Amino acid sequence: MKFEDKKPEDQILVIFGATGDLTRRKLMPALFAMEAQNLLPEKFQILGVGRTDLSDDSFRSDMQKALLEFSKENNKTLVKKFLQRLFYFKTQAYDGSFDSLREKLKFLNNNNGFNNSNVIFYLSTPPSLYRIIPQELAKSGLNNESDGWKRIIIEKPFGYDLESAIQLNNSLKKNWKESQIYRIDHYLGKETVQNVLVTRFSNGIFEPLWNRNFIHHVEITSAENFGVGQRAGYYDKSGALRDMVQNHLLQLTGLIAMEPPASMNSDAIRDETVKVLQALRPIEKQQVSEVAIRGQYIDSTIKNQAVKGYRQEEGVANDSKTETFAALKFYIDNWRWGGVPFYIRTGKYLPTRVTEAVIHFKPTPHYLFAQKESCESCNQLIIRIQPDEGMLLKFGMKMPGAGFNVHNVNMDFRYAELSDIRIPDAYERLLLDCMIGDSTLYARSDAVLAAWKFIQPVMDAWNENPNIPVYGYPAGTWGPDTADDLIEEADMKWHYPCAALTGDENYCAL
Ligand code: BG6
Repeated sequence: MKFEDKKPEDQILVIFGATGDLTRRKLMPALFAMEAQNLLPEKFQILGVGRTDLSDDSFRSDMQKALLEFSKENNKTLVKKFLQRLFYFKTQAYDGSFDSLREKLKFLNNNNGFNNSNVIFYLSTPPSLYRIIPQELAKSGLNNESDGWKRIIIEKPFGYDLESAIQLNNSLKKNWKESQIYRIDHYLGKETVQNVLVTRFSNGIFEPLWNRNFIHHVEITSAENFGVGQRAGYYDKSGALRDMVQNHLLQLTGLIAMEPPASMNSDAIRDETVKVLQALRPIEKQQVSEVAIRGQYIDSTIKNQAVKGYRQEEGVANDSKTETFAALKFYIDNWRWGGVPFYIRTGKYLPTRVTEAVIHFKPTPHYLFAQKESCESCNQLIIRIQPDEGMLLKFGMKMPGAGFNVHNVNMDFRYAELSDIRIPDAYERLLLDCMIGDSTLYARSDAVLAAWKFIQPVMDAWNENPNIPVYGYPAGTWGPDTADDLIEEADMKWHYPCAALTGDENYCAL
């Protein structure tokens, strides 16, 4: 079945937090792009819920502005058609009764001749409401599937630590079945992340090598070349470990390290990824300073522009210890990966924006040629998640001429060259999947809890032990130098995308 053929059943999408940033920046542009590709259900309405006093018309005109600002589509007839799907419902409070919302949904259903009352509730609200809203929806009978299915989408962060994630999960499960709960991790919606599955399991050449016998180590980097901006209020309570590692990067690790599933069935895939997360070797609190590095950007000058340090950002305490950089070394204790180190690093205000996984294959057992160092980075498979999505295989080749000069060359595949089909935004894919009831690319509760369990000792040690330094790094650099010590065993170093070497903002992996 082609992506375009998945036409969902008639339904209503209710967005809590409809006037918020995520709705404007991500959800509306994604839904509009789906409209443009004819992927929305025949009968489909979006009910924005918020506390702001808005009419349907004023909500529509706000969303029209959002589309102008954030959507690349600009077909006026289509925009008009899309806006007609939008309605607004003002709620007094999110923790009050949703009986009147139930009536509003009934009204929309009747008015539009829907046969069933299929509803998605999207929680695009502060996380403090993730427990309350589903509970109140259930009290008003809005989890009841007798007249059509009901699903809830919950944004990250799912919990603040292991304990709160367990509590949130237990609370949700009182009223909602696991099959109704969609925990979104937008990294799983990225084309290149899904392509990890296709690369590994549709080719006979990689899988036989994909294990401890042939892989030396695995490196995952997610770098951003900007700071926390307007999000300091949220970020200062979160930090890089909670914000990026617990969810996006560990989920990505799950796909890179999983065993082949028996089928592409949602549970078959998620059963395998969760096994990886459950096999992560626990990090003891007393080991944390050896295997985890935290950093915080300090003021600096980038391209002649002065950049504030994290502690000078508005909304951040001037003694904040929140990490804007985190690097981790860990192991997966199973037969495939026994003894293979995995390295993860992520940070704000690094030199460039790039997310990539580098699979470092083992060197040959006996090197025959001179100039070994010229082939230091041979035998790598680089999975470029973003930008410049693609895949790069690096290996050594003979330079023409006398002798045996080995040169490192790249076999480079770029998505942009595959076809002129635009790469859909992760939210398009994930919203469509929820509309058709496919939860493969959503995080299951056991995976979320396993990821929290893994990072909990690191969070605890960082929180409790003042002797573990928060290293400062000048904004625009690759994080604290100490992070290099994590990985710099003999002949090993982090893979630095060349922007770091050239100062060029455009990422390249040559
Ligand atoms: C979000 C984090 O989940 O992911 C942000 O909260 C981060 O801090 C963002 O910037 C990165 O997403 P992407 O898709 O831009 O890599």
